[in-house]
Amino acid sequence: LTSPGPRRLHGFELMDLPWWPSALRDAATDYLQALLNHTQPFKPVTSVLEEALRRASCSRIVDLCSGGAGPWEILLPELRERVDPAVEVVLTDLYPNAQAAARCADQPGIHYELEPVDALSVPAHLGGVRTVVNGFHHFRPAQAQQLLADAVGAGQPIVVLELLQRTWPDLLASAVMVPLSVATTVPRIRPRALRTWALTYLAPVLPWSMAFDTVVSTLRCYRPDELLELAAGVAGADVYEWRAEALRSESGLPVTYLVGLPPERTEPLS
Ligand SMILES: C[S@@+](CC[C@H](N)C(=O)[O-])C[C@H]1O[C@@H](n2cnc3c(N)ncnc32)[C@H](O)[C@@H]1O
Repeated sequence: LTSPGPRRLHGFELMDLPWWPSALRDAATDYLQALLNHTQPFKPVTSVLEEALRRASCSRIVDLCSGGAGPWEILLPELRERVDPAVEVVLTDLYPNAQAAARCADQPGIHYELEPVDALSVPAHLGGVRTVVNGFHHFRPAQAQQLLADAVGAGQPIVVLELLQRTWPDLLASAVMVPLSVATTVPRIRPRALRTWALTYLAPVLPWSMAFDTVVSTLRCYRPDELLELAAGVAGADVYEWRAEALRSESGLPVTYLVGLPPERTEPLS
């Protein structure tokens, strides 16, 4: 499904700059979350998550780089129905989004960890299937391998999901469609934040910074063959089963995934 595309280029995203205002970082992750809730692009990969939970015989997902919480409001109920009603998700981030954490507080099965968690070195007490949604492209190849190595070292399954594909049409769509998408998605963000509306319609920093970041993200995104190559370079990863694919969601959005499954366990994890 991948068409020839641009070379991978590791530019900088505004959201990654340490001095980038937290109001804009939170507004960006809140926008992403509202987009995920509305378009549900990861529904086609629910079966991949199901496979990872079953392989690890566990009922906990440890989501890394969670930002504004990601797609779990949609995916968790489906996983609970398909796998086990006890499936839970622990959301983590290096810069936890306090507003998202408050929003998650009344969602059954979703807990947002308020202590910073580095995806490259996950504390041992956070056991479970690791996921990275829209975060993997933030890492350069060496760091990306470190993230995979940390999961392999802990013997946990890892699922990487990206709402991106590094193709020319997707690059063009990022530049043209994202400002429009921000303008139409901000009214869906709950709870409504006056600041986010002002940053979108009064002084439109959010639509243009999101367009910039999405273009950079698209150029940073790894293709399926590159994901498999990264995994192949991780020590001990040869005992894992790896699969990567690029596909389109029902709404036409680009999705890329990588899954790494450890050998079957005989004893349940949790
Ligand atoms: C584009 S957001 C993804 C948000 C969310 N997963 C979603 O799908 O909406 C990327 C997140 O990665 C986080 N991040 C960047 N480097 C990280 C690291 N080393 N460890 C954990 N989180 C990190 C950022 O703080 C940001 O919230």
